[in-house]
Amino acid sequence: MRFPISDSQPVTADAVSPVPRSSAPREAPPAVTAMVRLIRDTWAKSEPFIPEISQFFYGMLFTLAPATRDFFPINMEVQRGRLVRALVHIVQMVDRPDDLVPFLTQLGRDHRKFGVIPRHYEAVGTALLASLKNHLGPDWTPEVERAWAEAFTIVARAMQEAAAADVNPASWSATVLEHRRLTWDLALVRVQPEFPVPYLPGQYMSVEVPQRPRLWRYLSPANAPREDGGIEFHVRAVDGGWVSRAIVSHTQPGDVWRLGPPLGRLSVDRTDGRDVLMIAGGTGVAPLRAILDDLAQWGENPKVQLFYGGPSREDLYDLDELRALAATNPWLTVTPVVEHGEEAPGCVQGTLAEAVTQQGSWPGHRILVAGSPAMIRATVSRMLVAGSALDQIAYDPFTID
Ligand SMILES: Cc1cc2nc3c(=O)[nH]c(=O)nc-3n(C[C@H](O)[C@H](O)[C@H](O)COP(=O)(O)OP(=O)(O)OC[C@H]3O[C@@H](n4cnc5c(N)ncnc54)[C@H](O)[C@@H]3O)c2cc1C
Ligand code: HEM
Repeated sequence: MRFPISDSQPVTADAVSPVPRSSAPREAPPAVTAMVRLIRDTWAKSEPFIPEISQFFYGMLFTLAPATRDFFPINMEVQRGRLVRALVHIVQMVDRPDDLVPFLTQLGRDHRKFGVIPRHYEAVGTALLASLKNHLGPDWTPEVERAWAEAFTIVARAMQEAAAADVNPASWSATVLEHRRLTWDLALVRVQPEFPVPYLPGQYMSVEVPQRPRLWRYLSPANAPREDGGIEFHVRAVDGGWVSRAIVSHTQPGDVWRLGPPLGRLSVDRTDGRDVLMIAGGTGVAPLRAILDDLAQWGENPKVQLFYGGPSREDLYDLDELRALAATNPWLTVTPVVEHGEEAPGCVQGTLAEAVTQQGSWPGHRILVAGSPAMIRATVSRMLVAGSALDQIAYDPFTID
């Protein structure tokens, strides 16, 4: 099956779910719910076979659109499965337009950095469906095919419209000015983009470094946008990590990075009358630090309580700086939390999820959570059990790690 995506109906949040916008998340209409159910059922049968499905997918994609080969790393083993997993993860969300549509707008702009054009979306759609069909055999019924095709078309169309409407550069080059090891596995990297990147405090962006061409990874600026455009990143080397280990060990002043457009929705509205609870695990403190950096420019702010956690005291690499910020900004309180706390005086012992829920459900607060996918999952689910409402909590959930 091929996709005439560019001829289909325009897609907006309301085309996905024709319910008027309100502050409460909208329910998808029954047809969308049925479509997503079919997709999830077929994906449950396919997911254990991602390596085989991906191999077929890339073979077909590179045959249909050979130019797309150059968007991917030379050694495809490094990324195997990543794009197929990401595609399916997002296609399955068409019943959540409030979350999905703003994200697709950002993702469509972000894909401009690869050089993606509309024809490539058709090739990706055709390759995805063909690889699922090849894998599922008789389970790939016309009904299933229609569900996948419609959902993919909705997603691809929203991304292309956003890409077409974007007037900003597709990417920015940025020169590394400073690389400093803060701990054995963590580096602070300061870069100077050629032109200021129009990000909001709390957002993240994808980054490509010269040591790992075409392996883009997301990083969060740890400072609010500055007049000179300078950006500070905090990068932790993860075990077996291709890009993070290269940055921590091999980045040098003078290296030229490429930055993608900003993404994400962590933010604080100073005027909505709500106090703020921030929960940061590891380098998840970076986007929250950017928000604090921005708030510190104002005389009056909502009360902000930041819980900053990690396995041990050494993992809280930014604690001294945060305490210094709190000392001069009375609206800010910082609570360090360590899992192994016997030798960490002044720190709460336990996980972040335990520490914040010990104080109840935080009614009336806006809650921002940032950290590893596991930490976000554990914290958000425990807060919901403790009685916090989902629409109080913001986090950037579109990660497939
Ligand atoms: C919205 C967002 C913002 C981010 N901001 C930052 C940031 O400011 N600083 C920063 O250092 N990282 C940040 N990350 C994580 C970063 O994008 C990479 O995922 C991470 O650096 C690993 O990349 P890698 O190439 O080294 O590992 P890969 O080669 O991609 O993966 C190697 C192994 O590490 C595991 N892994 C991947 N990511 C993590 C992780 N975060 N924690 C533990 N294990 C992991 C993988 O599952 C895999 O087993 C952010 C991620 C997201 C989604
Ligand atoms: C419905 C359409 C699409 C969706 C939902 C989508 C989604 C995504 C997401 C979420 C990522 C980030 C994965 C991560 O690093 O965590 C990604 C990466 C990528 N996408 Fe897309 N994408 C789409 C279409 C395309 C098209 C048409 C191309 C062009 C061939 C493309 C090329 C890439 C490349 C090269 C990467 C980075 C390399 C990789 O992660 O394998 N994507 N995509």
